Amino acid sequence: MYSVKNEFFKNEKLNLADEIYLFDTTLRDGEQTPGVALTVDEKIQIASKLDNLGVDKIEVGFPASSPGESESAKKIKSLGLNSTVIGLGRCNKKDIDAVLDADLEYIHMFIGTSSLHRDYKLKMSKESVIYKAMESIDYAKDHGLAVEFSAEDATRTEKDFLYDVYENVVVAGADFLNVPDTVGVLTPLFTRELITDIKSHFKTPISVHFHNDFGLATANTLTAIECGANQAHVTINGMGERTGNASLEEVVVALYAAYGIDLNINTSQLYSLSDLIGRLTGVKMPVNKPIVGDNAFSHESGIHVHGILNNSSTYEPISPEFVGHSRKIYLGKHTGANALKSKLTEFHIDLNQNQFDKVFGQIKALGDRGKCVTDDDLKAIAWTELNSARETRIKLIGLNLFYDDDIVPTANVELEIDGVVKKTSNSGVGSVDAALNAIRLLIQDTIEIELEEYSIDAINGGTDALADVFVISSDSNGNRSTGHAINDDIVMASILAILDSINKLLLFQKS
Ligand code: KIV
Ligand code: ZN
Repeated sequence: MYSVKNEFFKNEKLNLADEIYLFDTTLRDGEQTPGVALTVDEKIQIASKLDNLGVDKIEVGFPASSPGESESAKKIKSLGLNSTVIGLGRCNKKDIDAVLDADLEYIHMFIGTSSLHRDYKLKMSKESVIYKAMESIDYAKDHGLAVEFSAEDATRTEKDFLYDVYENVVVAGADFLNVPDTVGVLTPLFTRELITDIKSHFKTPISVHFHNDFGLATANTLTAIECGANQAHVTINGMGERTGNASLEEVVVALYAAYGIDLNINTSQLYSLSDLIGRLTGVKMPVNKPIVGDNAFSHESGIHVHGILNNSSTYEPISPEFVGHSRKIYLGKHTGANALKSKLTEFHIDLNQNQFDKVFGQIKALGDRGKCVTDDDLKAIAWTELNSARETRIKLIGLNLFYDDDIVPTANVELEIDGVVKKTSNSGVGSVDAALNAIRLLIQDTIEIELEEYSIDAINGGTDALADVFVISSDSNGNRSTGHAINDDIVMASILAILDSINKLLLFQKS
């Protein structure tokens, strides 16, 4: 069931069904994502989360396809979830029996109906396809199953034959007619025509199952609902065969934001569920994935951040909290002073105007060099600026490098540490690595460091270019600090930048 929250939104172009169900197939079509296989325990974990999320139906797998599929279906059914638990099966006795053996009460039964599927896959005539479908539905109904019937590849099936199939399966007792766009060829316009027409011909509830081959699955699903479809098949993160299915989070949030249609989903769980699916399947979402991508509520440009800080709706269609996500303000070359001030306030860092200008300048300079400044980077830069008046504890006294085709790169390093001169040598995979290993040995009683980022730029091209090195190091307490140096020798610039970051990390020890 659903309710419409925006009562003012009474658009005559909407022809909503009285009931709209959400049918989640993350555990079936979603698991058919190439390279993805879930264990029985993982499936159980996901099914419980989907139940908490509030989906009406969960397709848990294809019980006839493997013992694990059958076991997970049975175990999920035994949890006594609120959501209806569904198993997939072809139009044959073996598949229907597997669904029954898993104690399920609802089967999603399919058979290919397009000429491509009839001629090249099933090698069956139109009559045999209809006969097989009716015979199987008859058997399933006789055994007490609710039947949702899918005409696989419906959207490439001759329309008169598709309607013949649907008419006959309705006679056989199908409870739901599903319209799979198996290879994602629909557009919103064709969806409108098709679903409006199917709705005018059949009284049986209509479901849609749209694939995302052209990136239109969500748009097509929304269109189908606008035209009276009673149910949408969806998956978390849009997982599924090839480029996937309509994404649950996109369909749910778009329906709510566009029309105020509330499908009774606990939307604040969407982000964490997306994250769980990403971790369990190994398929991480791109940063620009709608609703759940890392950048869904991230802002960098000065103009946008200014607007967001005054009223988040200026540049966000929904709040991040609505889907359990969080807002991030990034700093970079487009950053404005407002964003920087708000970040510094958030981190309780007080800078005078001069220090603020310097930090602002550094952020812009880093942005121009293609870097995005994270919160940790900002803290390190601001902290460094605050402490720049303090003395450096480690100074480079000498550096000699030995490398040749036959010898392992070796570095002799001499440092003054808190007024005491020490020297040692060490080797590494290259000169910088050898020098860093020697430095680590010399400073081991003072601080332990890890080099987290190392980037090098050549200033003004050519073989005599200056090397401009930027590093980020961290200490064993998780403090991070930037380091920067320019020198005509790449190794020297690298070592000076590393020592710069170590000296800044040592400032944390004093505080
Ligand atoms: O995409 C499809 O056609 C399917 C069927 C099993 C309904 O997933
Ligand atoms: Zn599918």
